[in-house]
Amino acid sequence: MHVLVLGAAAGGGFPQWNCNCSLCRGLREGRIDATPRTQSSIAISSDGERWLLCNASPDIRAQLAANPELHPRRIPRDSGISGVLLVDAQIDHATGLLSLREGCPFDVWCTPNVHQDLSSGFPLFTMLEHWGGLAWRPIAIDEAHQEAEFEVPACPGLAFTAVALTSNAPPYSPRRGAPTPGDNIGLLIEDRARGTRLFYAPGLGRLDERVRGFLRQANCVLVDGTLWHDDELIRAGVGQATGTDMGHLALAGSGGLLEALGELPRSTRRVLIHINNTNPLLDERSPERAVLDETGIEVAFDGMRLEI
Ligand code: MLT
Ligand code: MN
Ligand code: ZN
Repeated sequence: MHVLVLGAAAGGGFPQWNCNCSLCRGLREGRIDATPRTQSSIAISSDGERWLLCNASPDIRAQLAANPELHPRRIPRDSGISGVLLVDAQIDHATGLLSLREGCPFDVWCTPNVHQDLSSGFPLFTMLEHWGGLAWRPIAIDEAHQEAEFEVPACPGLAFTAVALTSNAPPYSPRRGAPTPGDNIGLLIEDRARGTRLFYAPGLGRLDERVRGFLRQANCVLVDGTLWHDDELIRAGVGQATGTDMGHLALAGSGGLLEALGELPRSTRRVLIHINNTNPLLDERSPERAVLDETGIEVAFDGMRLEI
């Protein structure tokens, strides 16, 4: 399978327009070695022609322009995007649907929880009915296994498993602070012909044995690199929320994501995505980045291409 990283930053992007933290400011002023990143989105394809957009970010217009694979090529109105999948109903993952209005109807895969939030608190499904609508393709998480298996017609040969994750529902959801299965999912995607697997989870709040099992099954993990420290926003003086509040497990510390990635076989490609602008790893000369380099953990960037 082919994977395009369209945007590797968390909500707000890097630099964030109103953020004066040392990293956003350092990047603007050219004082640090760092690369700008747009908001969280990837695209997946089995044939290199038809792409499943996984999350539609507010930066989608620039992301489409920057990736020729997604440009119109065949008929007068066209796109490389053949469908959309949403892992949650957050602003950074769903707002781009508004900018796709000229291409409606689109098939949109998401859980009932996400569909409900995007039909009420943030009513994208309702609004876009005026442009031809979005065709909801439900991801029905099985209660017993907390998983759902499905296929996407535009991606022949790929088998999708949605995995319910504990993270958080958006502020406009009635389930904010008390997420239920289906508010956030990860994806295990298997390329049947190649026998390879990707695990994609930009929002991972808790690492239980089940999630660790999915990490172990994958040839490549593309996972939540939002925060280095749980209290990073507070330390930077830009917010009061911790990673725990937001549903993002921090990288550092005992029980953190780095520890879990360190336990994976060396042959597993490990890539961090959904990086918040306060995360010190964004400074390419930081001690935190040196730790990643030493352990062979990569940091996704806009335009990164993965072959899995
Ligand atoms: C998240 O991933 O927790 C959200 O996208 C944060 C946000 O953008 O408000
Ligand atoms: Mn997010
Ligand atoms: Zn910042």
